[in-house]
Amino acid sequence: MVAARITVNGKEAPIAPAAPHTTVLDFLRERGLTGTKEGCAEGECGACSVLVARPGVNKPTDWVPVNACLVPVAALDGQEVVTSEGLATVEAPGTPPVLHPVQEEMAVRGGSQCGYCTPGFVCSMAGEYYRPDRCAHADQGTSDGADGGDGADAEHGPNGFDLHALSGNLCRCTGYRPIRDAAFAVGAPTDEDPLARRREEAPPAPVATEYRQDDSAFVRRDTLAETLRLLRERPDAVVVAGSTDWGVEVNIRSRRADCVVAVDRLPELRELRVESDHVEIGAALTLTEIERRLDGTVPLLAQLFPQFASRLIRNGATLGGNLGTGSPIGDSPPVLLALEASLVLADADGEREVPLAEYFTGYRQSVRRPGELIRAVRLPLPLSPVAAFHKIAKRRFDDISSVAVAFALDVEGGTVRKARIGLGGVAATPVRALATEAALEGRPWTSETAEAAAEVLRGEGTPMSDHRASAGYRAAMLGQSLLKLYAQTTEAVPS
Ligand code: FES
Ligand code: FES
Repeated sequence: MVAARITVNGKEAPIAPAAPHTTVLDFLRERGLTGTKEGCAEGECGACSVLVARPGVNKPTDWVPVNACLVPVAALDGQEVVTSEGLATVEAPGTPPVLHPVQEEMAVRGGSQCGYCTPGFVCSMAGEYYRPDRCAHADQGTSDGADGGDGADAEHGPNGFDLHALSGNLCRCTGYRPIRDAAFAVGAPTDEDPLARRREEAPPAPVATEYRQDDSAFVRRDTLAETLRLLRERPDAVVVAGSTDWGVEVNIRSRRADCVVAVDRLPELRELRVESDHVEIGAALTLTEIERRLDGTVPLLAQLFPQFASRLIRNGATLGGNLGTGSPIGDSPPVLLALEASLVLADADGEREVPLAEYFTGYRQSVRRPGELIRAVRLPLPLSPVAAFHKIAKRRFDDISSVAVAFALDVEGGTVRKARIGLGGVAATPVRALATEAALEGRPWTSETAEAAAEVLRGEGTPMSDHRASAGYRAAMLGQSLLKLYAQTTEAVPS
């Protein structure tokens, strides 16, 4: 096995002597690439954003912005990274670098004051700049960055720029209007743009990694079978995909592991298939990949994704990770419960399928055994047509839920034939609202039924009071959520 190496701004560098838990952020800064900043060290500010070459959705390679503060540098063994320093180009030796178009727009439109957040913003902005399906609209950009043009709205520029690309970047002094102006003014990459050309070639292949320092190791195997054998030997190992959860544990709680096993590039965990009777989603696909590949095929998931953390987090986070941590306030479990998902669990002896409703057994506990991995999530088809995901949080985006509610209802001839409701934030585990489902099924879909069922829903679970919300508020929001669903569906489909 060759020594672990990473390519940064076109130059290869050995990962040693970094420790296996060293983040990409610390690795870069140690090497003098101090454009990449640390703001929060927990994935909430985007000051550390860098671009990674990943398998593309519409081109062989996508430039994907990720939080460098969360990802262990060993996870990028054999991979290519571009930092804010690598965006500018030097046209002739001895001449000053020429700013990248996103840097130029940020500069001329006043998008930077103290500049602390700016390298992170330009990396996130560059990721969106190179998104192939945005580039199709880029010639509709306006020179003044103003709204206008087909498909433009408060969150989408006339140049196709989706402002959600910046939802994981915080700025504390400039204010966001000039940054938005810069985003909405960028055009399309030229044919000579080296990063645009790089998209036409395959991304670096995943490489098996065995990176050890002292008593700790970061390990990546080539196949699922090899990984499962390793997990049988090391059931204590921490399994990571995008490290969006583990990175926080390492940085904020100073947790360390003797053995970290990466599963995010295993082909067996990266398949997405739409069959006649179910959809199967690989547990290690990132949420961004699922969102773009499904492209609205599962409307409830399409509602979930924009509300799940930020684009930077969704570029690394996976369904396997969100379910594997067993958090009672993860945003995907309520949706997957409403969709009647099941999990395909794999270990060295084979696979088994477990309904998600039977998966969680207690606070951060599940039926998953030591050495077992979530390989895929299965969603039965057909989908219930009345579906909604309501996330109640203090901020509209990039926040943790106080309560999350997902509904999937079959309403035929004005009667609720089937109701599935998933709840998060109201118990030690995500739960189905079974009493409310029973209060809806077989009843006419009327305001009286909705109000009676909302009263039942207010009593579901055992919500607690904490710094995010009181128990009373959480219960009230549950009921309100059902009334909102009724209002939304009856407005959309007059009875
Ligand atoms: Fe804040 Fe990485 S330092 S997201
Ligand atoms: Fe100062 Fe954004 S320019 S934090």
